[in-house]
Amino acid sequence: MTLCTYSGEHELANAVATEIINLIKEKPTAVICFASGNSPKLSCEHFVNMALSADVETSQFFFIGLDEWVGVPPAMRGSCHYDFQERIFNPLNIPSSQYHLFDALSTDLQVECDKMDKVIADKGGIDLMIVGIGMNGHIGFNEPGTKFELRSHVVQLDPITKSVGQKYFDQQMQLEKGITLGFEHLLRSKRVLLLANGISKAQVIKQAVEGPVNIDFPASVMQLHSNGTIMVDEAAASLLSEN
Ligand code: F6R
Repeated sequence: MTLCTYSGEHELANAVATEIINLIKEKPTAVICFASGNSPKLSCEHFVNMALSADVETSQFFFIGLDEWVGVPPAMRGSCHYDFQERIFNPLNIPSSQYHLFDALSTDLQVECDKMDKVIADKGGIDLMIVGIGMNGHIGFNEPGTKFELRSHVVQLDPITKSVGQKYFDQQMQLEKGITLGFEHLLRSKRVLLLANGISKAQVIKQAVEGPVNIDFPASVMQLHSNGTIMVDEAAASLLSEN
């Protein structure tokens, strides 16, 4: 795992977008998994702008959605599906044949997990994962205590996730469960970028980078990835020992 610090959020987003564009140019059929949430928002904007302005061929890459809130309709602002649609599918005209997202309204969520695992396996694995970090150290909805060996699974959300998650919605939500890729996917992904901006992420970044590797702090899994990079702005890096 490496750590890269950027002077600001635009510099960080630009680096992320450049990496996505380079991957797509090199391997047009690349499988790319995104988190939703605030951390990758600007990177998505930069990616879309670069793809459109440089006329990059985006008709062959395959998009995987990292996770979803169980029971939240895809068209509702705040769902991961909504973010992906607004940020990437609509601006780049990506058809539904070019992505796979969890159906979190399914009556059989285990089937959804199996489907996701099969899609990833059939595509030959994930080339690039772009993830954020939660205030409890989660990645996706891999909450504290989640085994690193899991593939897609359904989780009971941690109280911190239920409370912080309210920020994405226009109304108070009853958030109980999530459906998410697991760390087996992350550890097998050829490349992983974990993004964090702002002073509010400084403590969790310190723990992810300098703390012990332990399922009680899920983002410590990044230390096990030989081609993973934690990309932070100066504020998120401010508590690291080398500063
Ligand atoms: C969202 C997701 C979550 C977020 C994390 C950080 O799809 O997977 O793990 O990445 O909670 O959220 P933000 O980026 O909003 O601070």
